Amino acid sequence: MDNLISLVNKIQRACTALGDHGESSALPTLWDSLPAIAVVGGQVIFLSDPSLFFSRFSLSLSLSLSLSLSLSLFLSYSFFQSSGKSSVLESVVGKDFLPRGSGIVTRRPLVLQLHKSDEGTREYAEFLHLPRKRFTDFAAVRKEIQEETDRETGRSSKQISTVPIHLSIYSPMVVNLTLIDLPGLTKVAVEGQPDSIVHDIENMVRSYIEKPNCIILAISPANQDIATSDAIKISREVDPTGERTIGVLTKIDLMDKGTDAVDMLEGRAYRLKFPWIGVVNRSQADINKNVDMIAARRREREYFNSTPEYKHLANRMGSEHLAKMLSKHLETVIKSKIPGIQSLISKTINEIETELTRLGKPVAADAGGKLYAIMEICRSFDQIFKDHLDGVRPGGDK
Ligand code: GDP
Ligand code: NA
Ligand code: MG
Repeated sequence: MDNLISLVNKIQRACTALGDHGESSALPTLWDSLPAIAVVGGQVIFLSDPSLFFSRFSLSLSLSLSLSLSLSLFLSYSFFQSSGKSSVLESVVGKDFLPRGSGIVTRRPLVLQLHKSDEGTREYAEFLHLPRKRFTDFAAVRKEIQEETDRETGRSSKQISTVPIHLSIYSPMVVNLTLIDLPGLTKVAVEGQPDSIVHDIENMVRSYIEKPNCIILAISPANQDIATSDAIKISREVDPTGERTIGVLTKIDLMDKGTDAVDMLEGRAYRLKFPWIGVVNRSQADINKNVDMIAARRREREYFNSTPEYKHLANRMGSEHLAKMLSKHLETVIKSKIPGIQSLISKTINEIETELTRLGKPVAADAGGKLYAIMEICRSFDQIFKDHLDGVRPGGDK
């Protein structure tokens, strides 16, 4: 029997393959109703030439005015930090595989499905758009994410697209988990990118996290005032009571001497329903030195165990704990949503049947083909869910 997370993964893949990934569609979007964990965080765009930053804001203003405006923007800008979103994802996976760069690197949602495989089996990655091609080299995975992003958005336009990339990673080292990596929230557009990209990203992030079945993984750096965290700002908009927001605090090791994150981590500074989780990711120097992920996790564990302020919290800190907690929580949420998903699946089947009747038979292969395919998938999931419920029902015949 498949576990629930991999069942939902299959529906997600089927939805994307059929072009139903949360955009407006004639059919009720199944995708929208599936529980998922969306990862949000702010990022800083490093301009290759700082004068570009000034020139962007100086154009239409008089010299003195523009100078003071640029200066104040520059000052507020320099207080912002990258949240460490990519680092958290890589740490949860235990692999180096995300594209790096100074611009807006994540320009399409990345649906990252982690599948725990048997001990001793070889780990590999697979993209939905490249079925049957197994990647064992994670540098090649990084390259393919980049190239597939460009294929959809155009290499030169540097636009964003809401069409997700699906990546599955099979490894004995991971937990069963699905995460959706979204573009980082930013303050300024880079050269060659339209100014509207800042709002486009915000709207894309919002369109994911406003769905009631979405769990928000909000990443904020510990060395920045939490009130200014982009992740917290946007998640508060859609989840004001913090029911479905899981807060992650990065860069705990980079806090000023004499300050600590205990008030944050114990939930006194900013209250969420779930306990905050602190992490220590690899520093830029570690990345440059190619410090591997397993060594980094070990160091992270040592950090929490040996720092007097955090010792009492150590068993619920760090990337490994985060991965396990997320997997467990996702499974619980899916379980609680099964009746809703099931009724949506039946509704979809009914609507497709009506539509096919309306079209009359025989339907042209291209018009009816997609509907038939979706209906077939819905029917098989309907069955799988029924089987699963039979399997878990107390006293069930299994
Ligand atoms: P993103 O832009 O939010 O995806 O951030 P990245 O994950 O790319 O991280 C930005 C920079 O911060 C990189 O140089 C990381 O090495 C560094 N970084 C991220 N998290 C931590 C952390 O917990 N501790 C330290 N020392 N550096 C971190
Ligand atoms: Na942030
Ligand atoms: Mg990043």
